[in-house]
Amino acid sequence: MSKPVVARRAAYAVAVEAGEKYFWCACGLSAKQPFCDGSHKGTSFTPVIYTAEESKRVFFCGCKHTNKAPLCDGSHSKLKPLA
Ligand code: FES
Repeated sequence: MSKPVVARRAAYAVAVEAGEKYFWCACGLSAKQPFCDGSHKGTSFTPVIYTAEESKRVFFCGCKHTNKAPLCDGSHSKLKPLA
């Protein structure tokens, strides 16, 4: 597995809490999107840690192709259409 699985073609809006750590799923296999559930085991992927500096709503990447991991950069709109 060299490319991540597209979990969904949209961001996940999450209300984060200041000082809390979040483990964003980079592989796309987690059943607890957008966060890691350990399903990356055996792949080349590992979760990306996000520490919230303030309590607010953030948009975690759902397609796993962002260039600003773990946050959405709009890359989902540039993915190839589904066959
Ligand atoms: Fe995807 Fe852990 S389950 S990075």
